[in-house]
Amino acid sequence: MDKPTEDKRFFGRRKGKPIKGSRQRLIDELLPRVVLHDADSITPNLLFGIKPREVWLEIGFGGGEHVATLAERYPDVGFIGAEPFMNGVASLLAHLNGSHMVQATHTNLAEGRTDNVRIWPDDIRPVLPHFPAGSFERIFILYPDPWPKARHAERRFVNQRNIPELARLISATGAVYVATDVAAYAEWAVEQMALSGLFEQIHPDTSVPPADWVPTRYEKKGILAGRRPTYLVFRKKNVK
Ligand SMILES: C[S@@+](CC[C@H](N)C(=O)[O-])C[C@H]1O[C@@H](n2cnc3c(N)ncnc32)[C@H](O)[C@@H]1O
Repeated sequence: MDKPTEDKRFFGRRKGKPIKGSRQRLIDELLPRVVLHDADSITPNLLFGIKPREVWLEIGFGGGEHVATLAERYPDVGFIGAEPFMNGVASLLAHLNGSHMVQATHTNLAEGRTDNVRIWPDDIRPVLPHFPAGSFERIFILYPDPWPKARHAERRFVNQRNIPELARLISATGAVYVATDVAAYAEWAVEQMALSGLFEQIHPDTSVPPADWVPTRYEKKGILAGRRPTYLVFRKKNVK
């Protein structure tokens, strides 16, 4: 993969508390089985242990509960999750493995677990151009880092550099889901999507979760702390 240019530097964190024991073993032994390999062009339908009817992408999966829940609910869909924070990657691996208390000898997909998740354990942006147009039926960007200071606005994921790539990658019938509990980010995302001219909003009541919604860990914590989520759903405009 190309080295990121200055405007593509990643400003989040890749490491937290030291990863130990069973979690480290999952990274050593299970991650290589489910990692998305660096490739010049990626054919999403061929990535999984199943032939998926659709492929969904989650950008910044945090602890991975959302992608793991959906992957169990929809065993016929292929999921790609991206997250540069390795403690989060280890957490998703534990979910895929079916237990937080795995033993060294059990670093394998849980019994009955469909092989329908692939992980990109890093910044998604350099990889996006490697996917063919229309690869994804759903793209989730859930509780993206808000970067509230105006001078850091460039770092917000929903921006004029990333939106055209999202428009290229979402299928004509697909949807991009953005959730946030930061009112200024919700406004920003709506403005940026409108400014691009590439997307239209299709979920009228943004205070109500869309059908089939799985709350993320961040969302649950926010609601307990009294924050209110905004749910934005965008469809690609039919622009010629
Ligand atoms: C506030 S957290 C939310 C995590 C999770 N979606 C949730 O709702 O619980 C935002 C996450 O996005 C990840 N992230 C930020 N920029 C990213 C990028 N360019 N590619 C992939 N993940 C990214 C961060 O590492 C962080 O874990």
